[in-house]
Parts: sequence; C-alpha cells; structure tokens
Amino acid sequence: MKTEHHRRPSPSLTPILVKRAKPAAYFILLLLTYTLGYLSHHPSSTSLPLSPSSSPSPSSLEPIIRFSINTTEVNPFRVTTRCADPIPPESVRRTLVDRLFNGTSPFENFPPPHAAAKLRRTTKVKGWGSTGKVFENLIRRVRPRTVVEVGTFLGASAIHMAELTRRLGLETQILCVDDFRGWAGFRDRFSKIPMQNGDVWLFYQFLQNVVTFNQTGSVMPVPFSSGSTLMLFCEWGVFADLIEIDAGHDFLSAWADINRGFRILQPGGVIFGHDYFTAADNRGVRRAVDLFAKVNNLKVNVDGQHWVIYSS
Ligand SMILES: C[S@@+](CC[C@H](N)C(=O)[O-])C[C@H]1O[C@@H](n2cnc3c(N)ncnc32)[C@H](O)[C@@H]1O
Repeated sequence: MKTEHHRRPSPSLTPILVKRAKPAAYFILLLLTYTLGYLSHHPSSTSLPLSPSSSPSPSSLEPIIRFSINTTEVNPFRVTTRCADPIPPESVRRTLVDRLFNGTSPFENFPPPHAAAKLRRTTKVKGWGSTGKVFENLIRRVRPRTVVEVGTFLGASAIHMAELTRRLGLETQILCVDDFRGWAGFRDRFSKIPMQNGDVWLFYQFLQNVVTFNQTGSVMPVPFSSGSTLMLFCEWGVFADLIEIDAGHDFLSAWADINRGFRILQPGGVIFGHDYFTAADNRGVRRAVDLFAKVNNLKVNVDGQHWVIYSS
C-alpha cells in the first residue's frame, strides 16, 4: 500500500507534470506524423519510376533506373536450362523444318485451296518502325547468318531484313518467332485479315506476304510462343548473330524475351528492339531494357525508335 502511495504524484505535483508532459506528447505525435508521412510519400529504394513523366526524354537520355542493384537480388530471374553448343548456321533451317514441321516447309503447297482466294497479295505490309535505318545499320555491321525476330506480325520487318541481306549478298536465315495470334483486340485495327471459326489467319497472311516478296528461301516462321521457342532454341543450339525483340510490350514480356534472347546470342552479336521511345515504352519496354543492361553491365544504345545492345 505504501509503495503504491509513493508512486502516485501528490495532488500539488499533478498540474506541473501535466504541464511538462503535454509538450513531450505533442513532440512525439509530431515525430510520428512526420515519419509516417515520409514513409508513405518516398518511394522505397528499389522502386522504379511510377509515371511516364519521370522517364527520360529522348534528348536527355538519362538512365531511368536510379537505384543500385545487388545482382543476387535478381537470382530468381535466372533461367536454368543449359544451352547446347551452337549448331552450324547452314543446318539451322533444315533442323527447324525437321523438328517443328515434320520435314515439310510451311511454304510447301501454300496457299491451300480454301485460303487462296481470301488472302491479300500486296507489297504494302503494315508494320511499326519496320524499315527503320537501324536494320540496315546492324545488318551491315554484323553480316548475320542467322537472325531471330521475336514478334513478326505480318512480316514487315522480317521481309525488310530479308531484302537487305539479299542486297548485300548474304546467306541469311530470318527466323520469325511469333504465335501469330496478335493480341486481344487487334481485330479492331485489322479487320481485313480473314477469320474462320474465330481463328484469325494472321499466319496465313504472313506466309502469303513472304511469298509475294519471293523470300520463302530466307524467311522461316516459328509459329509458337516466344518463351517456349527461345528456351528450345537454347536447348537445340540454335543461336543468332542478330536478335530483334518486338513481341509483348509489357515489362514482364519484354524482360523475359530479352533475357531468353540474350542467351542464344552469338559472341559479338547484337540484340535490339523496337519501342524504346514510342508510346508503347510506357508499358515497360524501356524499363526492361534498362534493367537488363544494368544487371548485365551492358550499355543501351539508341538508333531511331530502337534500343541496341552489343554483346561485346
Ligand atoms: C508489334 S507486333 C510485331 C511487329 C513486327 N516486328 C513489325 O515490325 O512488323 C508484335 C507481335 O508479337 C506477337 N507476340 C506477342 N506476344 C508474343 C508471345 N509471347 N509469343 C509469340 N509472339 C508474340 C504478336 O502476335 C504480334 O504479331
């Protein structure tokens, strides 16, 4: 009882204590408010810029990733498949025809009678930045035997590369990796591509375009998803001197395609892609490219709307 009594302030002391405790409570409250405000408004040290406005303009070319990366943090992104030794470039086409198409080229007996009348025969093929100077610059520099294009659509950029390599007298195979499904909603802009039972004939129209340009000997479609194809190329030893990434434009798709593509790049080769500066970059292309370069200690170069990374 005595002890309890001692702990209790005497009635005369109470106003003094209250007087002193009040400012201290205010101070603690102020400190808490400030701390909470700070934490909720400042991005954590590992977050990426949130809005396009915080991205660099083409002219300033500032790096958009402003945090240092401990490379062990990206371990989960590592792919585990071991790539086979590269097969010779002259056997790449045959290997693909045998292993993907049971030995028969997709161009054989094309078009089938049920499709022939419906496909367009035109030399105006819709693409995006598909004839940019970057293609000629890189083909002249690398003189590729094998090109892998990830994202082909109707073939505008693939056909352009085939024409360039022909003009330069190169023996090049352009491997076009595309599931030829387009993307959800693409029919809004491409309603003229025939459709049967809900199946859009993007693949057929692509084949037709290659036939129209007389490039069936140097363009080879690989009509599957980029993820499974690039992993398989790695396992089969299908390597490329030049790799163009232009499929899914969200961060995760671009990130996966760049990482998987880079694994099958020949030493001295170049990987590049579209939409480093166009509207689509906001979805993640540029963030994926910059992060990839940062993690691998590589430099991002720019050629028109394209990003370019040299392997050495
Ligand atoms: C922007 S277009 C390619 C344009 C082409 N490079 C040109 O310049 O004409 C994107 C293409 O990527 C393909 N695509 C998107 N995601 C894919 C994926 N995960 N696997 C395979 N193809 C994909 C779509 O079917 C579409 O044809």
